[in-house]
Amino acid sequence: VRDARTALEVAAVPPGRIAALHAEAAAAAAGYSLVSWTGPVPDAHLAGYARVREAMNDAPSDFEDEHWDEQRVRDQVNATIRAAGGRRYTIAAVHDATARLAAYTALAVDPADPGWGLQNSTVVARAHRGHRLGLLVKTAMLD
Ligand SMILES: CC(C)(COP(=O)(O)OP(=O)(O)OC[C@H]1O[C@@H](n2cnc3c(N)ncnc32)[C@H](O)[C@@H]1OP(=O)(O)O)[C@@H](O)C(=O)NCCC(=O)NCCS
Repeated sequence: VRDARTALEVAAVPPGRIAALHAEAAAAAAGYSLVSWTGPVPDAHLAGYARVREAMNDAPSDFEDEHWDEQRVRDQVNATIRAAGGRRYTIAAVHDATARLAAYTALAVDPADPGWGLQNSTVVARAHRGHRLGLLVKTAMLD
């Protein structure tokens, strides 16, 4: 049994550090733009979200690879967000040339305990790795 707990105390991050990391990421991420939404994944991004979500298969895990499509995002991600009743913020990177979703990170906040956010997945589609998009979306979320 493994038990790991991690927490980032945002207030303890040295002033300017997140902005500096974001600038570093943005310099490596030319040709990508950020989009964001609160709550369920919008219809326009369902297919892209499913494709990027499937790239979570590359994360170290003991589970079998998963297949994701638009319906699964509706049934599992969006239904869970609605049932949870909290706020779920998503920031995604879009590849300008193809308008395809390339990366996203998501954070859930319980309005009853808003001092904390629960970090959900951060994932970059395989074809778009190596451009610091993971850092780009995470630093945008922390901003
Ligand atoms: C972790 C992850 C988000 C990082 O993607 P990313 O933002 O594109 O990564 P970076 O651009 O910061 O590059 C990371 C390293 O991979 C290298 N890299 C370059 N091209 C790459 C490619 N095509 N594929 C993979 N890695 C590549 C980079 O050179 C860099 O190495 P360096 O730090 O020595 O310079 C991505 O690998 C991923 O989605 N993995 C699966 C999901 C996961 O594990 N998420 C984290 C837990 S929720």
